[in-house]
Amino acid sequence: MREKILDFLRKKDGYVSGDQISQRLNITRQGLWKHIQEMKDSGYDIVAVPHLGYRLEGSPDRLFDFEVARDLHTKFIGKKIHYFESVSSTMDIAAELGMKHAPEGAIVLAESQTRGKGRLGRSWFSPKYKGIYFSLILRPKVLPSAAALLTLLAAVSVCEAIKEVTGLDPGIKWPNDILLHHKKIGGILTELNAETDRVNFLVLGIGLNVNNDKKALISGATSLQEQKKEHIHRVELLQAILRRIEKNYLSFQDKGSKPIIEKWREHSLTLGKRVKVYCHRAHIEGEALDIDADGGLLIRKDSGVTSKVMAGDVLHCR
Ligand code: BTN
Repeated sequence: MREKILDFLRKKDGYVSGDQISQRLNITRQGLWKHIQEMKDSGYDIVAVPHLGYRLEGSPDRLFDFEVARDLHTKFIGKKIHYFESVSSTMDIAAELGMKHAPEGAIVLAESQTRGKGRLGRSWFSPKYKGIYFSLILRPKVLPSAAALLTLLAAVSVCEAIKEVTGLDPGIKWPNDILLHHKKIGGILTELNAETDRVNFLVLGIGLNVNNDKKALISGATSLQEQKKEHIHRVELLQAILRRIEKNYLSFQDKGSKPIIEKWREHSLTLGKRVKVYCHRAHIEGEALDIDADGGLLIRKDSGVTSKVMAGDVLHCR
């Protein structure tokens, strides 16, 4: 009902009478008043003037499920949104939902996380109302070895969406760090639920620093607000990410991995660079040549031998 009342108020510039809303939405005046109070409590600036009615003067900077769903126009990504003010990690909730047969495209979205997870056992700083933190359930019909490609797909989709909404042009450090001017603005964590020869489901966790103040960022990180020097509309950005993921995922199902790998190459900050990749306490050093069809990074070592790494931490040397 909140969505319907908001739609009604948004359609009109001036005041809308309570009678008109109640009649159209088939609720009592008292019921309407209760909903309006609840919306005000959630941060909507709704002014009520006797004999004139209600007027919406402002909406809160929140990622409410019904705001994200409004005008999203996707086929299945984000059709089901589980919204929370605060969770431990959206990954854990999404994994539970995945096991309970949640539909493909369902997302778990939180305004903050108390134990946000990063790659390689790190944590992900998730301050309230500042970033975008969500996990998406996908059920691709691929072998577990192809799961890394979906991480690349997510990284490309996030870059495309940032460009579309802010005009900023981020790049990707292999495999999936999203950077702007050498600083990290986002990352992707993929968790897999699979058998040897099939993926049951996978959870793509996406974290982005959006409106974080410079002072509140950890070292080596930046936010879109810091780079753009203006407040970013998180709902708009999240919607763009979901649409891009759907478009790229449908293309992946239809045409395979080639288009996504090509796009990833275009956004890559790693290819052509001298890199050190740290994996399992060892490291490989050399020139980052390319990514393989399965998303692995090909490195030409100084010996001339080419090695492939599937996971690790990349340091760009020069
Ligand atoms: C990384 O770069 O290390 C990956 C960071 C992934 C963070 C996101 S935020 C939403 C989802 N929930 C988590 O706990 N982690 C991912």
